[in-house]
Amino acid sequence: MNILFDKEKGIFKLDTENTSYIIALTDEEKFIGHVYFGRKISDIDVSGLMRIDENPFVPSRNNRDRGSFLDTFPTEFPGCNVGDYRESAIEITDLNGHNCVDLRYQSHRICHGKPKLEGLPATFGSVQDCMTLEITAVDPVISLEIILRYSIFEGLDCVVRSCEVVNRSTDSVFVKRLMSMSMDMDQVDYELLTLNGSWARERHICRREIGYGKTGVGSTRGESSHQEQPFMALVSKNATQEVGEVYGFHFVYSGNFLAQVEKNQFDSLRIQMGIHPKNFCFEIPSGKSFVAPEVVLVYSHEGLGAMTRTYHDLYRKHLIRSPYKDKKRPILINNWEATYFDFHTEKLIAIAKEAKKNGIEMLVMDDGWFGYRNDDNSSLGDWFVNEEKLPGGLSYLVEEVNKIGLKFGIWFEPEMISPDSELYRAHPDWAITIDGRTPCRMRNQYVLDISRKEVRDYIYSLLSAILHSANIEYVKWDMNRQLCDLGSLGLPVANQGELMHRYVLGVYEMQDRLMHEFPNLLLENCSGGGGRFDPGMLYYSPQIWCSDDTDAIERLSIQEGTALIYPLSTMGAHVSDCPNHIVGRTTPFETRGHVALAGTFGYELDITKIPPEDRAKIADQVSDYHKYNALVRTGDYYRIASYSENHLYDCYGVVAKDKSEALFTYVQVMNGANRHSRRIRLQGLACEKRYRLEETGEIFYGDTLMRAGLHIHNMWGDFQSKLLHLTAVEG
Ligand code: DGJ
Repeated sequence: MNILFDKEKGIFKLDTENTSYIIALTDEEKFIGHVYFGRKISDIDVSGLMRIDENPFVPSRNNRDRGSFLDTFPTEFPGCNVGDYRESAIEITDLNGHNCVDLRYQSHRICHGKPKLEGLPATFGSVQDCMTLEITAVDPVISLEIILRYSIFEGLDCVVRSCEVVNRSTDSVFVKRLMSMSMDMDQVDYELLTLNGSWARERHICRREIGYGKTGVGSTRGESSHQEQPFMALVSKNATQEVGEVYGFHFVYSGNFLAQVEKNQFDSLRIQMGIHPKNFCFEIPSGKSFVAPEVVLVYSHEGLGAMTRTYHDLYRKHLIRSPYKDKKRPILINNWEATYFDFHTEKLIAIAKEAKKNGIEMLVMDDGWFGYRNDDNSSLGDWFVNEEKLPGGLSYLVEEVNKIGLKFGIWFEPEMISPDSELYRAHPDWAITIDGRTPCRMRNQYVLDISRKEVRDYIYSLLSAILHSANIEYVKWDMNRQLCDLGSLGLPVANQGELMHRYVLGVYEMQDRLMHEFPNLLLENCSGGGGRFDPGMLYYSPQIWCSDDTDAIERLSIQEGTALIYPLSTMGAHVSDCPNHIVGRTTPFETRGHVALAGTFGYELDITKIPPEDRAKIADQVSDYHKYNALVRTGDYYRIASYSENHLYDCYGVVAKDKSEALFTYVQVMNGANRHSRRIRLQGLACEKRYRLEETGEIFYGDTLMRAGLHIHNMWGDFQSKLLHLTAVEG
């Protein structure tokens, strides 16, 4: 890794192991141009690629025709309303009511390490691990500075970008749009890949053509959302797991976002990612600044698989902070699908006892333990133990569970308030609402205005008191509705457009406090399943509940889309009871176990009530978890076949970094009559190593398994699965 600056030519070059990113300044006017991002190249001066001296451009040196220049110039960070009619990266209103930003290079700094982004989640690294380039651009007329930041990491093919707007004028400015990154490049044959879905159907992979105009994904729901993931990739048409070009863009943020590609008149693409401009208007007072969240750009010339593994490695090493990130997590049993709201101490203890017998290590008490919450109509905000359900309180329950030999975890939904709660009766103004309007309920609840410090402090104090009251080692932090009726009594009229972002900063602040006050707590984020599964949340919790859909077959697509960019160690995945509560499907208990092994692994069922023949299989699953989890958590992920694409079977695997071991999971979703058995071509093994397949004892060279493939016998029935465990043999 290195960052070079050619002073004479005004060119910056950022080199990672296999990629180069090049920025160039124009001669006199010092526009900041984007020259290249892609596979590593040797030359630094390729600024001719900006095409500033050819038709239809007219050289702008004498300002004769700057409009046509700016409208085609491949810029690194477009200002607004000065001649570039493509999307701006920044839009502001100054106190005169004007909206122009014209940015020119002013200075730069190259350093080892990476500065923190105050109040925001961000990748991190030591001075040995990473390097940062900061380019300061300025619009002298309005005294506005933009600091563009680029960081690169040793051994990883990614560039992390963010920016900061500094107001050096004597008056406030209002920022109405601020993209964290913008990049212009030629359209070759790229398609757009995004992760789309819905509640219980999150992050399905979707690929489409890029037409003229603007296309993309976004969220204006106050969270990153079930519907659209803050991620997009440009992929060459021929791109598969192993070949083709891929540019990935992933936003390290948990609120509203926009991810957009614009194809213009000359077939060039403008790629942008940042906080969604809808409902966003942020005041920057004189002398202050605004820091935008960062975007992780990953380039691969070896298909989607290489992009995936870069994201996995970056997040495991440079984003997740929890002490659990490199540890095997306790196998938990969660009572949500087991009991829903209908539980009490004795029932939980019975579950804990049976769980212990079967090797489970932690009991998690989900929604319904507080206030008078016996369904989802009340009590959010009243974080006081319901002693009718839990006589003797939490301390008694937790002590009993600990005596049985299990750890204890608990569910919270700190950002919410039920209209039927003591808290709402005392502080109706703490809910996000607009005076005079009947606020919209979702799951019969409102959202607390945690942009306000007094609200955050109050809720946090209750949460902290509960955690101090007993030996609680895990928290599931849930969020079960999205934001609307955007009004905050904590903000002046002119600043209402700050609410959505301040809300997200409030979540970050609370989770940061939690991490610091309870450094050994295992935190799992959740939002009605996977509605806030984003890199921002991973900075606070090493795992996130993937989806409320625990059906093993539905999970194949959800986990495939999730694992495209997130390490398996972060995906909350449990074995649940059948018929599945979301889709009514019955799958073999073994298959449910195999699919959950690709994530954090746990149970979500009433172990005292499931069929004895299923219960008898838990011991084997638990032993598989202990046997394979280190590999699953730390290895390289390979996608072999996708049920979403072929509608018949699924296959993925994890290979140890030193290639000594691999575990592939094969799921035959649909059986069919009179079909050939399958041949699966594995990936990621060492060609020259010989591997023993544990199931049969057969030994093959890695190149055989990857090039000729492995023979998989058809299994009897739908929804069948098997694990293929390979270990390298000596000699
Ligand atoms: C949504 C979560 O995803 C579920 O696992 C469960 O915790 C419920 N909320 C509880 O209300």
